[in-house]
Amino acid sequence: METKNLHSVAALFDTPEKIINAANKVKDAGYKKFDVNTPYPVHGMDKAMGLGQSKIGWITLFFGFSGAIFIFLFMGWTMAMNYPYVVGGKPFFSFPAFIPITFEVTVLSGSIATIVGMLAVFFNLPSLNDPIQDSDYLKQVSTDKFGILIQAANEKFDKEKVVEFLKSLGASTIEYIYEPEKEEFKILQPKFMVFLALVAILTSGGTYVTLNKLMYVIPFNWMDRQSKSNPQSETTFFHDGFAMRMPVKGTIAKGFMPYPYQGQAQPNEVLSNPTLPTKEILELGQRKFLTFCSPCHGNYADGNSRLRGQFPPGPTLHSDKIIGYSDGMIYNIITNGQNAMPSYAYQIPREQRWAIIDYIRVLQRAQNPKPSDFQAISQLKKESGKNVVN
Ligand code: HEC
Repeated sequence: METKNLHSVAALFDTPEKIINAANKVKDAGYKKFDVNTPYPVHGMDKAMGLGQSKIGWITLFFGFSGAIFIFLFMGWTMAMNYPYVVGGKPFFSFPAFIPITFEVTVLSGSIATIVGMLAVFFNLPSLNDPIQDSDYLKQVSTDKFGILIQAANEKFDKEKVVEFLKSLGASTIEYIYEPEKEEFKILQPKFMVFLALVAILTSGGTYVTLNKLMYVIPFNWMDRQSKSNPQSETTFFHDGFAMRMPVKGTIAKGFMPYPYQGQAQPNEVLSNPTLPTKEILELGQRKFLTFCSPCHGNYADGNSRLRGQFPPGPTLHSDKIIGYSDGMIYNIITNGQNAMPSYAYQIPREQRWAIIDYIRVLQRAQNPKPSDFQAISQLKKESGKNVVN
């Protein structure tokens, strides 16, 4: 019965040399579960006891990295996906701005995990009881003795042999240390838990009923009841009664250059085409030409209108006059319209207008090919093996 509750056999020594020697011998004898208690740190004890490096560093590493990865992705998600929001003109996913917080959270989660891990994993929290508490042994080793204790949990533990062994090492006193009574955590008793739950239900329920049903008080109404104007509603605050304000006259959107020749028949400066006639641009121009221009000017810009006289047909765009027009002039006509032709400024964005002009140039060139164009076509034919003219 007694051995069943025996936690360990403890021995006291008088000098640091003896305790170092004892730790060495106990380790060499093959005991794994033993501990040494000294009134002050004794140099070389780690080595004598055969202690490796503490494992707490792994907990720090794991939680530090987890915190870093979590907060980095979290910031990326909030700032770039969930609620994209321009801050100081930076890109949404601006990782240099995330570095300080990532660093802080790494340190915070690493250090909290270290403390909690140390208490919970290595010190057996919530248990505050160690078997050596209240023993004479502990009183001695916290004044001027050096103690070693070998736990009964060791595989080859034999009480008598251990006592003999410790005495042979020069122990001055031997003490048996017994397991403490099983701890009870009063806070976890069902009665107390039920009591806590009842208090929680009664206070929250009582508050809810009193404020909402008896007194009709809406808790926290500061945001609802502030004075404000809703969009598109009336207001007495402004003299015109509109809650929403118009932009100041002449306001220009950020990054937008207004067309300088609005309403003029001729651009008085050379407007140059900012696009290169690449395949993509020409394909875009073709699509937009067929959508917006071909009904009046014909699919090949030859004036072959599809409108059957319902609208004055657009002239051919293959005349020498229009071949001679600069890109800027055609741009101006699309933008402002000309006589019977309406403005297409609202239907066709600026880049697409230039792409249409590039495509018109292709159509014009196709009507008046140069000798070099034929050479290029036969070259293409050879390369692709197809009749590229069709
Ligand atoms: C609703 C029919 C209609 C559509 C659509 C239309 N145009 Fe016109 N376009 C006309 C008419 C009509 C004229 C002749 C205007 C005039 O008398 O000056 C014209 C004139 C022109 C001129 C000037 C011709 C000249 O002799 O000065 C150009 C260039 C031109 N259009 C290009 C385009 C382009 C590019 C598109 C597509 C974005 C387009 N048009 C769409 C009806 C149209």
